Parts: sequence; structure tokens; C-alpha cells
Amino acid sequence: MEKLLVIGDTGLVGSKLASMASSAGFEAYGTHNARGSPLPHSTGLDITDRNATMRLVETLRPLAIVNTAALHNVDYCETHREEAEKVNVEGTRNLAEAAAKNNCRLVHLSTDYVFDGLSGNYTEEDDPHPLHYYAQTKLDSERVASESPSYAIARPSVIFGWNPLEATGVPSSSGKTINFAMFVLDKLKNNQTVKAVRDQFSSPTFADNLAEALLKLAKLHANGIFHTAGRSCMSRYEFAVKLAERFGYASNLVQPVLTSDFKQLAQRPRNSCLRVEKAERTLGMRFLTAEEGISEMRNQIAVPENLRA
Ligand SMILES: NC(=O)c1ccc[n+]([C@@H]2O[C@H](COP(=O)([O-])OP(=O)(O)OC[C@H]3O[C@@H](n4cnc5c(N)ncnc54)[C@H](OP(=O)(O)O)[C@@H]3O)[C@@H](O)[C@H]2O)c1
Repeated sequence: MEKLLVIGDTGLVGSKLASMASSAGFEAYGTHNARGSPLPHSTGLDITDRNATMRLVETLRPLAIVNTAALHNVDYCETHREEAEKVNVEGTRNLAEAAAKNNCRLVHLSTDYVFDGLSGNYTEEDDPHPLHYYAQTKLDSERVASESPSYAIARPSVIFGWNPLEATGVPSSSGKTINFAMFVLDKLKNNQTVKAVRDQFSSPTFADNLAEALLKLAKLHANGIFHTAGRSCMSRYEFAVKLAERFGYASNLVQPVLTSDFKQLAQRPRNSCLRVEKAERTLGMRFLTAEEGISEMRNQIAVPENLRA
């Protein structure tokens, strides 16, 4: 079996990758940073430590590295620019150099937020135009990753799914505590109202479906950017209502609000929905709609005890 190195195996996407890797013919090795990993082959690594990153890749010599690590709390990045640049750009550079030196493929996670959201329905051919500093660092990280001899850049949109570590409330060094779907379900479970914006549109991306695409990208020989997101384009409000309906909670607990009602430091794109035809065609797979992803999530048995309906 070929080795796959998952950077960030405690994260939502990283944990899915690590658990699904063997079904794609990989032996999974992972890294964690602030949170302890439950996985057997996981090493502590801060990707901003160039020497440690080089050493780990040299020792393992994996076929591919998938970088899920980032500082991705958007408002935090706005006021902590040096830190955001260090993790998102310098960290990616360390991985890209380690990959190049050891003939590994680099699969790097970017974001739909590289677009300004004025038109929506973005393809890989559309020009990015970041609205905030986080998005700027992710765009810069794309450029750095694309200097690797063998690379793929994956752009997902709002990622959702179960990550039992997120249910513990221990925050990741990414700046994230809990993904939007788990946050909404936690509120609804406790009969609390949830306010969700009805004027920001994205393509909710089921983490397991994304991991499937990333494993295929790890084996692909072509270089390039791939939009790897859910097929639906909807507001956070519509998404939260669908979660309530599928999980059997009262949907009137979800209340629509406008972006202007929230005091968010960084301006969010109004419509960063992505078109996924290129990735579907190249990878021979289908991305799920939001409804399909939510249904899969509902059917999974590994639902954290405290969130079961
Ligand atoms: N979540 C979204 O809605 C979304 C949308 C679009 C794009 N993305 C992109 O998708 C990627 C994965 O997102 P996710 O939701 O799976 O992230 P996540 O759950 O927050 O996980 C991030 C992972 O990266 C690790 N990490 C953070 N800083 C690190 C550092 N300096 N060195 C090494 N590891 C570090 C974390 O380790 P510890 O937990 O151990 O600290 C964790 O394992 C990110 O690149 C993000 O920018 C996310």
C-alpha cells in the first residue's frame, strides 16, 4: 500500500481522510497540532516549523500529502494577519518544498472564499478576487502549492459532517470549534433558536464526499485547480432549515437574518457557489446535493451521543 500523509487528522476533513484512506488503497499517516489525535499513526506537527515538516516528510516519503491545515477563522485572520500568513502561506510553502524534495504529490485545500461573490456559479476559469485577509492568504497558498511539480488544489465551500472531536468543545488551532451543521443541530437539540443569514449563498460540502474527492486527487497525475463542493447553491438559512427537517426538529427554531444584522468584521462574499463539473468529469464521481449530504449525515451511526435526536 502507498502511504498518504494527512496534515491535520484531528480536523473535520482530515479525520475523514484518515478513516477512508485504506478504502482507496492508502496506508494513512497523519499529523495533529493542538488537539490529541485518536489515530495510531499520528505525529504532532506545526507546519510553520520548516525543519520538523521536512524531517517528517523525509522519514515517511509518502506518495501524497494532503494539506487540510489552515488558520480559517475569518474574523480572527483579519486582526491576526502575521499569524494567518505564517500558517496559511508559509506552512503551505514548507509542505510544498518538502513534497518537491521527496517526489510527493501535494493536494492542498483552498476555499470558495477566494471569489468576491458578486456573480456566483464560479468555475476554475473564473478570476479570484478575495474580499478579506483569510481569503487572500488562501489565494497566496494556492500559488505556493502550484509551484510543486505534482499538485492539486481543491476548493470546497462550507464543509459539514460529524467530527466527534468538535463535540468535545476543545477548539482546534485552526480557530474553529464546531462546524455549522453540528452547531445548528446542537442548538436545535436543546430547543434553542438559531439565527442564520438568508443573503449569503454557498455550496454546502459534505466532508465525507469531499474526502472521497481528495483521495482521488491524491492518485491523479494531472496538476490544477478543482472545485470540490456540494452541488447545491443555498443560503445558510435554507441549509439550517433542511438540517432541522431531516433531523426531525422544529424548523421554525431557525430564524432568517440579514448579513447586516450580524457584526462580522470581515466582509463575506454574497454568493460563492461553485460549479463542480470539471472535478466530477476528471475524478469520475458525483458530488452530493445538500439534501443528500444531510441524509448521509443522518444515516451515519457515529453520531455523537449528545446530538442524537
Ligand atoms: N470548514 C469550512 O467550512 C471550510 C470551507 C472552505 C475551505 N475550508 C478549508 O478546508 C480545510 C480543512 O477545513 P476543516 O474544516 O477540516 O478544518 P479543521 O476542522 O479546523 O481542521 C484543521 C486541522 O489543521 C490542523 N492545524 C491547524 N493549524 C495547524 C498548524 N499550524 N500546523 C499543523 N496543523 C495545523 C488542526 O490541528 P489541531 O486540531 O490538532 O489543532 C486540524 O487538524 C482548511 O484548509 C480550510 O481553509 C474549510
